[in-house]
Amino acid sequence: MMSRFNTLRQVTSRKHIARPRQRRFHIFAALSVLGLCLGLLSADLNAGSAVITDKDIRARLALMREQKAALLTLSDMMAGRRIFHPKPAKAARRVLIENTRKIPRYFAKQQMEANSHAEPEIWTRWQDFETRAQAARQAAKQINAGSVNGLRRSLPAMVQACHNCHQTYRTTPNRAITH
Ligand code: HEC
Repeated sequence: MMSRFNTLRQVTSRKHIARPRQRRFHIFAALSVLGLCLGLLSADLNAGSAVITDKDIRARLALMREQKAALLTLSDMMAGRRIFHPKPAKAARRVLIENTRKIPRYFAKQQMEANSHAEPEIWTRWQDFETRAQAARQAAKQINAGSVNGLRRSLPAMVQACHNCHQTYRTTPNRAITH
């Protein structure tokens, strides 16, 4: 009788110890997964640039990065690194036209931050900055996305228009950034 009681106590007490441990393990595992996801997410959001907290700056960088992706699609098709298809080529051209149109609006507020590469001259020579954005938009419109040959003829002017603004209004000009 006594021994049975003991065994029972052992069993129940073992259960008591086992449960919280198990639960702790589950919580630990869940937190690790969550931490991993958050880590991946922030790595993704910050890809290509150092940490930027201001939402306007983040928006203008996202606008720029989207242009870069579109340009990359087209230059890959032009260079034969990607099979040419008129549909994605035309979609990329659209992105370039739309985004270059938005440049003045996205830079309208003078926002500076340590990790931003925007030159303060953007806001002291605003007219010139806008003119370069318009030139980029014209170059985007001129892109011939109907064939590889069309891209060969029209893409260099687009790349040039990106550089043309970066050389003046972006610190650390980086040739690799546009193509
Ligand atoms: C009218 C000026 C202007 C034009 C045109 C322009 N850019 Fe930019 N771009 C800037 C400025 C200024 C910055 C820096 C912004 C900052 O760091 O706050 C920048 C930054 C970038 C960045 C870096 C984004 C980051 O995450 O740090 C990329 C990529 C980029 N531009 C791509 C392009 C491409 C591709 C084109 C052409 C299709 C283009 N830009 C045309 C002004 C321009």
